[in-house]
Amino acid sequence: MPNKGTVNFWMDIVSFFVFMMIVGTGIVLKWILPSRHGEGGGGWKGGGETAGDWAGRWFLGVHRSGWVDIHFWLAVILVGLIAVHIVLHWSWIVCSLKAHFLKELGPSSKKPC
Ligand code: HEM
Repeated sequence: MPNKGTVNFWMDIVSFFVFMMIVGTGIVLKWILPSRHGEGGGGWKGGGETAGDWAGRWFLGVHRSGWVDIHFWLAVILVGLIAVHIVLHWSWIVCSLKAHFLKELGPSSKKPC
């Protein structure tokens, strides 16, 4: 079992890249394949309101519905990673809350956690 510092490091690296992939797929959904609320659509591959336009709603070989699925499941994974991150730092969170609200450790303890 790797030590806690190594686990934290890799957890945070993976979380960062999952977050960046969410931002990337979010940008695709918002600005390259925008949804069709309102007139004209807009965006790089947007525009038009007819049903036939759905045939052109692809980017990098993936349909818009695929991009929504990828964006959604990455977000689910990130929520899980954040939950694990909180569990890994639970003792720090409890210690900090106690130090802040209960002042159990006294004013002399500069770095109690
Ligand atoms: C630059 C950042 C982001 C942009 C531009 C963006 C854009 C979008 C857009 C346009 C949709 C609507 C998709 C549709 O038409 O159905 C959407 C849906 C969604 N976004 Fe984002 N997003 C961003 C970041 C995030 C982040 C950080 C999270 C969560 C960690 C997130 C979670 C979701 C979820 C859960 C949905 C619903 C997906 C579904 O309909 O199943 N997004 N986002």
